[in-house]
Amino acid sequence: MKIHKDEKIITRIRGCKDPGALEEAVQLLKSGQVVAFPTETVYGLGALCETVPAVRKIFEVKGRPADNPLIVHVDGVDRARELVREWTPLAEALVRAFWPGPLTLVLERAPGLPSIISAGLPTVAMRMPAHPCALRLIALAGPIAAPSANASGRPSPTQAEHVYKDMKGRIPLILDGGPCEKGLESTVLDITGDVPVILRPGHVTPEDIAAIAGGVRLSPGVLSPLPEGVQAASPGLMHRHYAPQSRVCVYCGEEGAVRAHMAQEYAALQEAGFRPLLIGTAPWTACESRVVEDAQDFAKKFYAILLESEMDYTHLLVQGVDKHGVGLALMNRALRAAGFSVKYVDDTETFGGGGRT
Ligand code: TXA
Ligand code: MG
Repeated sequence: MKIHKDEKIITRIRGCKDPGALEEAVQLLKSGQVVAFPTETVYGLGALCETVPAVRKIFEVKGRPADNPLIVHVDGVDRARELVREWTPLAEALVRAFWPGPLTLVLERAPGLPSIISAGLPTVAMRMPAHPCALRLIALAGPIAAPSANASGRPSPTQAEHVYKDMKGRIPLILDGGPCEKGLESTVLDITGDVPVILRPGHVTPEDIAAIAGGVRLSPGVLSPLPEGVQAASPGLMHRHYAPQSRVCVYCGEEGAVRAHMAQEYAALQEAGFRPLLIGTAPWTACESRVVEDAQDFAKKFYAILLESEMDYTHLLVQGVDKHGVGLALMNRALRAAGFSVKYVDDTETFGGGGRT
């Protein structure tokens, strides 16, 4: 059968535990297809790491810039060792502490690894996800190169239906493992230098890493835009990210002042004929809002709230959280979703030493 380029692919969603679903995913991967699968962080868009045309397809279906490298997902430390030039004592200590789990390590890559995965960089990013379906898939098919399963620039999917929204007609299969446990992507940690550098914060926090590594630095660009002309340590830091169709703005400062200010902005937007939504830790009187319990719960629900609100609301007003623990990762994503549109309601906070943006 001749396949035309514009021929529509039918995208099916199958439960991870449905009889034959995992086997079908393995078959598709082995025949060079791209398949979406759940992890504990967000859904991934996977292809077999050794199959260059399939990896190229990931970039095509996502619309991902060719200079943004992918994470290789492995099902054990032995596989990870094969991907790198040298497995270091620090790598060993970190994976003992955090794998399987939301920590991605960046190390110098083995010469045999297809360079498309690393977008031409001399390094490779690797992680072992803590999700039975992902681990089984890797065990049966081999290491899987996978970015988050959203169209480039959009919020990451944490449910199969959210993958479907962006990937309908572009991939043949989405394995449904229910809502992701963590809700934000893994911590990306570069351990090629003397001191480990966090390129993207996640559930494995700077404090967690410092406890194992002795020290850790935060890459510039995590909480503020990179200054003009500065080269990003991670290409992902340069691109617009996590943005829904609605406009997002983040409000920072003392909690009471922030919430009062958000209510005022809500009223002003409504007055101007817009449909705003408030997102924070408690409801506001007579305002439409989404409520989260704490930073952990906020992290888990953040992308889902963005994706489920974008059709109904023109403006999403996000109450900022303390940037410690998982709060750092949440603020990194929220500020990027907002294109760094952030309001400091009082003078208690500035971000990343980069001043107000
Ligand atoms: O939790 C996760 O990490 C999810 C799930 C599916 O595992 N994956 C994910 O992949 O978020 P992606 O492609 O959306 O984000 C990978 C990030 C990007 O910011 C990319 O620039 C960075 O990791 N990255 C990948 N390889 C790198 C490398 N060799 N050096 C520096 N940064 C790298
Ligand atoms: Mg992504």
